[in-house]
Amino acid sequence: MSSNFSTLILRCSDPKHLREIQAVLTAGGLLLSGSSSGVFFHNSLIRAYTRLSSPCSSLLLFSDLLRSGFLPDSHSFSFILKACSLIPARFTGLSAHALAFKLGLDSDLFVNNSLIHFHSVTGVIADARLLFDRSYQRDSVSYNSMISAYVRVGDLGNARNVFDEMPTRDGISWSAIIAGYAQGGASKEALRLFSRMQEEGFVPEGKTLVSVLAACAHMGALEQGKWVHGYLRSNGAKIDVFLGTALIDMYAKCGEVDLGLKVFDEMPEKNLLAWTTMIKGLGMHGRGEEALQLFSEMERSGVVPDDIAFIGALCACTHAGLVDRGRQIFDSMYHCYGLRPKVEHYGCMVDLLARNGLLNEAKELVDCMPMEPDASVWGAFMAGCRFYRNVELAEYAVKHLIQLEPNSSGVYVLLANIYASSGRHADAKMVRYLMKKKRIEKIPGCTLVEIRGIVHQFLVGDTSHAQIKDILMKWDEIEDRIRLAGYVPNKKEVLLDINEDEKEDALGRHSEKLAIAFALISTEDGATIRLVKNLRVCTDCHDATKLISKVYEREIVVRDRTRFHLFKDGSCTCKDFW
Ligand SMILES: *[C@@H]1O[C@H](CO)[C@@H](O)[C@H](O)[C@H]1NC(C)=O
Ligand SMILES: *[C@@H]1O[C@H](CO)[C@@H](O)[C@H](O)[C@H]1NC(C)=O
Repeated sequence: MSSNFSTLILRCSDPKHLREIQAVLTAGGLLLSGSSSGVFFHNSLIRAYTRLSSPCSSLLLFSDLLRSGFLPDSHSFSFILKACSLIPARFTGLSAHALAFKLGLDSDLFVNNSLIHFHSVTGVIADARLLFDRSYQRDSVSYNSMISAYVRVGDLGNARNVFDEMPTRDGISWSAIIAGYAQGGASKEALRLFSRMQEEGFVPEGKTLVSVLAACAHMGALEQGKWVHGYLRSNGAKIDVFLGTALIDMYAKCGEVDLGLKVFDEMPEKNLLAWTTMIKGLGMHGRGEEALQLFSEMERSGVVPDDIAFIGALCACTHAGLVDRGRQIFDSMYHCYGLRPKVEHYGCMVDLLARNGLLNEAKELVDCMPMEPDASVWGAFMAGCRFYRNVELAEYAVKHLIQLEPNSSGVYVLLANIYASSGRHADAKMVRYLMKKKRIEKIPGCTLVEIRGIVHQFLVGDTSHAQIKDILMKWDEIEDRIRLAGYVPNKKEVLLDINEDEKEDALGRHSEKLAIAFALISTEDGATIRLVKNLRVCTDCHDATKLISKVYEREIVVRDRTRFHLFKDGSCTCKDFW
């Protein structure tokens, strides 16, 4: 009979039924003291409640177990600690740890693993590590718990050490470490580990592929992202909503938003995140009308937008210059959905107004925001001031920005550029002096380009690439050819302490120019060139890239910090407005 009950408990998929089983067991006296299988049934029920996401019922059963005079065994502790990790209930877990210690059960491998997991989930990694280090016996569960614990707090160094020390890794270890690198923005390492994982014969599952796609999206590694898509197709894998969304994001961020749309259309179920990702992707590409159409379609299909979806919709307006639609959407947040705009939404609106030259309206919005404007609000306002060369308002913004971000190089660089391009060289110099005095370092420009599945990285003025000689020679040729087409180096925005002659050379070595020269050498005629840049594209590089697209008859897709630029036949989809 007892085995019948235990199968029932094991198969139960609804906490309500579990409660009924528990009542039958109680009525039969099987949970009372004196019953030979009392501990066994308590344990089975404790485990089942946790599995069915009712860990609080597990805690109640555990106290019943103690109250009925049973002695918990190692299984009881293993299961109750899982419940405590899930809730999470730190103090109850600590009491369980103490009790296990008292009963001498804290030397069991399974109890130790549960303790490691419990301590790391409820916040004290050092305690988890202590237990891990003190154990003489560890299995892959112990190692994986430690790896996940470090990944959760972003400590990749320690996660990697544990991973490397592990005698036999399993799929979970690989998945955890790859997710760690992908989330931490160390995309190159994530992809490197992904190929090693396959070399060692592990078959990646959905979660790992989602991490890998995120890494591809971050680096603009289209070929590798496509490989994952192909892999899924050739294995007949079901593309669930998580994989689908990751694919859409990857395609959008790699400049192939239409392939993302195809995935989106084929998805059998779409949740809010999938819709939002698609809307954001279209917005990034300046396809605001389509993004907004999708937003309305989402509303019609009964999916209720949250504040992140609204950010997607407002950004779409921003990149397409749809001021009136933006105002409408902003108002509908509260009026239709009762969502109070957050500082991010104000940021989008200020960006939208400022980009379209409505600087005074933008300033009014900033001044009457119900919360303190943050650096991104001021930053958006200031970018508008820069575009329309309104030095007074820019200074007004900078005063606030510098208070909020005293150490950010971006603010100073932007201000110096505004001064320089409006002829106030003494002021520009002053800003440069301030930066030096405060020891603020400029973030070096960095551009990534993928050639035949390998991502190459270029820094500003970088001479470390193996083919640097050919690259610089190619740049000379490019410059000669685009000069004939009308290129004049734009020196106004170069913020470097060097004299005028050297400036042009410094422009020539901006990371995207090196990357384009390299891509022109390394790809066949007519192939599209894709770059990912960490900063905003500068005006000079933007001008040069437009001409290169015409002279060399290439499409060049550049993702910078904020949006996409598609250069084709001498013009750019951003319409020189970014
Ligand atoms: C479990 O941990 C305790 C103390 O933290 C330790 O003494 C014991 O050896 C460990 N058990 C195993 C199986 O490693
Ligand atoms: C800026 O840098 C200084 C010195 O490096 C430091 O003391 C200060 O806390 C930093 N401020 C902020 C807001 O990061």
